[in-house]
Amino acid sequence: LSHPESAKRGNLMAATGMILAIIASLVVPLDKGDGNYLWILGGLAIGGSIGFIAAKRVLLTKMPELVSLFNGFGGACSMLIAILETQTYTAADGGTAQLVIIIIALFIGSISFTGSLIAYGKLDGSIGNSLKLPFPQVVNLILLIAYIAVGFMVATGSADGINTTYLVILIAISLVYGVTFVLPIGGGDMPVVISLLNSFTGLAAAAAGLIYGDYVMIVGGILVGAAGTILTVMMCDAMNRSLLNVIIGDFGASSAAGGAARGEEVVKEANVSDVSIQLKYGQKVIIVPGYGLAVAQAQHICHDLDKALSEEGVQVKYAIHPVAGRMPGHMNVLLAEAGVDYDKLLELEAANEEFPTTDIVLVIGANDVVNPAALDDPSSPIYGMPILEVEKAKSVVVFKRSMNPGYSGIQNQLFFGDKTKMLFGDAKASLNKIKDEIGNV
Ligand code: TAP
Repeated sequence: LSHPESAKRGNLMAATGMILAIIASLVVPLDKGDGNYLWILGGLAIGGSIGFIAAKRVLLTKMPELVSLFNGFGGACSMLIAILETQTYTAADGGTAQLVIIIIALFIGSISFTGSLIAYGKLDGSIGNSLKLPFPQVVNLILLIAYIAVGFMVATGSADGINTTYLVILIAISLVYGVTFVLPIGGGDMPVVISLLNSFTGLAAAAAGLIYGDYVMIVGGILVGAAGTILTVMMCDAMNRSLLNVIIGDFGASSAAGGAARGEEVVKEANVSDVSIQLKYGQKVIIVPGYGLAVAQAQHICHDLDKALSEEGVQVKYAIHPVAGRMPGHMNVLLAEAGVDYDKLLELEAANEEFPTTDIVLVIGANDVVNPAALDDPSSPIYGMPILEVEKAKSVVVFKRSMNPGYSGIQNQLFFGDKTKMLFGDAKASLNKIKDEIGNV
């Protein structure tokens, strides 16, 4: 899964593995005469159809939302399994260890469920970032202590089965905890949180697998848990922030003034015909795609421009920042969708080495990932994040619609730099005009 070219095959293999696991789970209990096949096959048909249609229809920019929803449903499954198990649990066949596992599965599954729903709402914009809890960390700590206390009472007083009132309290606390855990986190940080919740869902599934002694669930859950954790750590590293900072950081709230443009500075505007001439007669061009490329859906026209320039003998490459866009691999997926050759993609370090020999860099809908404040302004919230050092090139053209900041909410001094010109407008429209102009030059 770690390379765009092989990731599709990796996903197919994983899906095939899951289908085999489902078939095995259906076939093995035959001798026990469960007789629930209608329910199971009905659930598979309904759930599978909804999943298939949703995944086929989703826009690439809405992918994090979809992942979040699917993840939430995975958490809900673990929660339901744990609740069901509490109904059939007796101390004689289970023992305290079994009960503790059920209580843990219930907790993690419920957090993944409600937490993912909140994450969905935040990404979707239906839950605004202004909706805040007073003292969220204190509230979360109280809920956690309450859960442990009630869980302890359940685990130690369960000889005649589980007390229903305690169980309802446990379910309520864990569902509320999912909400209060995710609510304080900034909307743009949601991809990191979704990845974290994804690892929680994996752990919840592994815990549910332990309840049943089911190896497929345990192994599958651990795989998801480990993959989610690795992805979370990688994303935090690429943004140079700790996980704790993401969870309690309220990123961007205090930063509006941090990188504000200095009053007297003005930007230089580019025009389509100048940029077209510069591109046509340049030798080497590097394109830096960002979130705005995805918003404008400009990947195809971007590739068309690349082809037009390549036919003119211009060398065209793409510089990919690991957190450009709003989800891991966002730019790789977009460019792959447009058919851009993987060999043309440069990773951060390689791109930074190539900028000094580049005639013109096209920054298309990217902002934070090219912000020099990350290198030279210790007061900036993105200070320390590795960036694409486009200022090293001979000239830079920035495609965006306004002087509005990007995800981090801070202004970008690159836009005021000597070598930089701004081409204002929707990225797709600007690229279209340039491509037409190049044909006429
Ligand atoms: P951003 O810094 O968010 O900047 C995107 C820019 O695109 C904006 O300045 C916006 O300016 C422009 N834009 C939007 N729509 C446009 C359109 N239709 N045409 C032209 N321009 C348009 O993006 P980035 O440079 O890709 O950086 C990503 C940020 O997200 C980083 O701060 C990163 O830490 C954060 N983040 C990333 C991830 C992952 S995993 N990728 C996860 C969480 C957070 P205008 O509005 O003026 O047009």
